[in-house]
Amino acid sequence: MRIGIVGLGVVGLSTGVVLAERGHEVVGVDIDQGRVQGLQCRRPPIYEPGLEEALNRNFERMKFSTDYSSLSDAEVIFITVSTPTIDGRIYLGYVFDAARKIREVARGVIAIKSTVVPGTARKVKEITNLKVVSNPEFLREGNALHDTESPDRVVIGSDDKEAGDLIQELWSFTKAPVIRTTTDEAELIKYAANSFLAVKVSFINEIANLCERLNCDVNVIARAIGLDKRISPYFLSAGLGWGGSCFPKDTLAITSFARDVGERLRIVEAAIEVNQERPFRALKLLKEVMGEVRGKTVCVLGLAFKPNTDDTRESVALKVVNLLRQEGAMVIAYDPKARSDVEMVTLDECITRADGVIIATEWDEFRGLEPKLRGKPVVDGRRVLDPAKMGQEFRAIGLGVR
Ligand code: UGA
Repeated sequence: MRIGIVGLGVVGLSTGVVLAERGHEVVGVDIDQGRVQGLQCRRPPIYEPGLEEALNRNFERMKFSTDYSSLSDAEVIFITVSTPTIDGRIYLGYVFDAARKIREVARGVIAIKSTVVPGTARKVKEITNLKVVSNPEFLREGNALHDTESPDRVVIGSDDKEAGDLIQELWSFTKAPVIRTTTDEAELIKYAANSFLAVKVSFINEIANLCERLNCDVNVIARAIGLDKRISPYFLSAGLGWGGSCFPKDTLAITSFARDVGERLRIVEAAIEVNQERPFRALKLLKEVMGEVRGKTVCVLGLAFKPNTDDTRESVALKVVNLLRQEGAMVIAYDPKARSDVEMVTLDECITRADGVIIATEWDEFRGLEPKLRGKPVVDGRRVLDPAKMGQEFRAIGLGVR
């Protein structure tokens, strides 16, 4: 099939390379010229495991352009542009701009993968007069290709049976269960899923707070409750909270959307509030082991919002950095992939120069650092260290004093 993709971020590129790998002809369009030029030279604009290799393998079936007219003969056009939150509300301008530009050049079925509030697909249909399907994406950054090829489910919201069938056929190779719904339901499914996961993490983070008071270990609690199949062990890792390009914006978008239509999502609102406190917990623990941080050098290990990505959007690590700076600390950092305006040094230098250390992202290479860190004030914000191998000046989220 001839496939168009509008918006070449992690969702658009993963969709594109996975479909190209299945033999489809893919044209990717983005308004960012630098991004398109990089892709034309086989350089992905983001780090995502396997993406560059997949792009190279399928390059002959992939084209990239800033020109929407290259979508003219696409049978399916995925909209995968970003949907940021501005002042706590979803901003749909990029989706509607894409829709208006598609209308001028194309006749294919539009499949919206961007996370959008219920009612958006219906508006895109009004704008374009084309068939519009809601086909939300559930991939995780860092696992994007795997999740696109092997999703837990494929959700297809469509008010037009034929258009829905076409998208269902496109993803049939995944063998995943297919849920056919209305467009509004498909749009809401995506928010319900992300909100639920965010609530789950905030829940275990509150239990972690309680564990710190009681000198209990939240990992033990999480393991035990996770064995209950109704709870499941996933998304029960206590830490410095959730960040990234999805949970923070999606929880805000759906809670404000709910209020706009006269309902409240109180549990999701509480999860947001719990999450906002997480950086302060890290600072509190650090002060317990090193006193005031003013004038001292603090090393933050990990800046990405989670491991295996260079993405720092809404990263809790950066919030911790800002808090430390506000308190007068001098901050240095190490991250295997991510960059920011913090002074970046090697892992060894970061540890040697620091008066105190906060582990903010659970990169694998931080495991086993106990011998190097022992003796320094350390806060393990992601539970990567073995407390038994650490000394007195050690605190970890959800652990209390051992
Ligand atoms: C999330 C969802 O997991 C995907 O299903 C969804 O498609 C995506 O958002 C999206 O809407 O596009 P992602 O943002 O890549 O994916 O990251 P996650 O792996 O879900 O992690 C989100 C945050 O929660 C990270 O900051 C992570 O450190 C934190 N987290 C996650 C925890 O603190 N504890 C956990 O147990 C799990």
